[in-house]
Amino acid sequence: MESELDYWSAKALLEWQVELGATEAMMDAPINRYELQDQKPKAARGAEAPPAPVKPKSVDPVAEAAKLAKSADALPSLRAALETFEHCDLKRGARNLVFSDGQAGARVMIIGEAPGRDEDLQGKPFVGRAGQLLDKMLAAIDLSRNENVYITNVLPWRPPQNRDPLPAEIAMLVPFLERHVALAQPDVLVLMGNISCQAVLGKRGITRLRGNWAQAWGKPVIPMFHPAYLLRQASAKRQAWADLLELRARLNSQN
Ligand code: URA
Repeated sequence: MESELDYWSAKALLEWQVELGATEAMMDAPINRYELQDQKPKAARGAEAPPAPVKPKSVDPVAEAAKLAKSADALPSLRAALETFEHCDLKRGARNLVFSDGQAGARVMIIGEAPGRDEDLQGKPFVGRAGQLLDKMLAAIDLSRNENVYITNVLPWRPPQNRDPLPAEIAMLVPFLERHVALAQPDVLVLMGNISCQAVLGKRGITRLRGNWAQAWGKPVIPMFHPAYLLRQASAKRQAWADLLELRARLNSQN
């Protein structure tokens, strides 16, 4: 069949294909390989067909996480278990696993959201600007990660561009977090911000939840504004101060 395209249109079309990545001219006209397949005799088709690929067994990452976390009988083995967990893609983009900082066995355990850039680089939670504010907040009620506070995050790996964790990521890391709390044995949990409220209490709404004691995983729990939020919203520091005093009072009353 004679081409109805003039020379310049044909040339422009060819250049467009080259731009799209075509590197080789194979035929004058395209071949519909689906039609070719249908024209073959049935027996030949069967004989040539490659074996059906074996479907990988689908795994439930939450069940896997629960099994691994349960097998850990101390904090170092929980950390090792997390290091072997391959179902969270965040791990592949992170430089370091961020497990914890502070004093294991302390009365206060703080649960943050996820490592940021500084935490990812150093492999420790709350070491950036939000962490420095957290240290000041703790010092104001006579607490310190060097003496009487233990710190971790819901996610041990940094999400790309510090994006919010996905519900599926939170779900598969909660079994490790729950085990972390059981092994660290704090008297109280402090939940910093919405993501840790979601993970531990199963709900968000930090403005409503903050400062109110709840119960989770057999422990008294107090949600507070995240220090990163306080850096952006200085007017919320007044409420954060009230929540810190509430925490101090609880610790004093349980002495
Ligand atoms: N924000 C968090 O929630 N955790 C960190 O470790 C650092 C910043």
